[in-house]
Amino acid sequence: MTPDDLRKLIRDIPDFPKPGILFRDVTTLIGNGPGFAAAVRLMTDRVSRSGATAVAGIEARGFIFGAAIAARLELPFVPVRKPGKLPVPVLAMDYALEYGTDTLEVDPGAVADGASVALVDDLIATGGTAKAALDLLRQAGADVSRALFLVDLPDLGGAEKLRASGVEVEALIA
Ligand code: PRP
Ligand code: ADE
Repeated sequence: MTPDDLRKLIRDIPDFPKPGILFRDVTTLIGNGPGFAAAVRLMTDRVSRSGATAVAGIEARGFIFGAAIAARLELPFVPVRKPGKLPVPVLAMDYALEYGTDTLEVDPGAVADGASVALVDDLIATGGTAKAALDLLRQAGADVSRALFLVDLPDLGGAEKLRASGVEVEALIA
């Protein structure tokens, strides 16, 4: 399966979660066994080539892909969590995304000293979410030089924003 085949498995939902937003829904892609496997395989190849020593995923959809990639490579998985979920004092950051605001949290002890972390999520739009995750992971001591997404919405400028922070950004589908 090619990235173009994967694109066809993503469902477009107009006006979700707010009027004017075209929601790119990966539920249909992960609900297709060969499609999900191909997406994870293609993303894993890219993380493997990067030489990353850990994978971070952003709750919730980033966990689906990030955890699968980490397991295939036998690398540690670092969860970047939505608020109030981690049972330890956390590093926290508020951020804005395409359709709202939220907070992300990281366990300051979750990253090994000197770890080279690949940041993974299903999708980058404005980049607000990924930039907050990047800043938190760097505060936790990670070297984050690469971010990988299944989908980039380039018109919203998120990938460029991350690149301006010194991150190499890749996506299977734009
Ligand atoms: C979605 C998506 C990214 C983020 C991208 O997450 O999974 O994390 O939006 O948007 P941005 O580039 O404009 O910041 P959402 O907050 O909807 O949460 P979910 O993963 O729990 O569905
Ligand atoms: N996260 C931010 N913008 C999104 C969109 N248009 N579709 C799916 N997830 C998103």
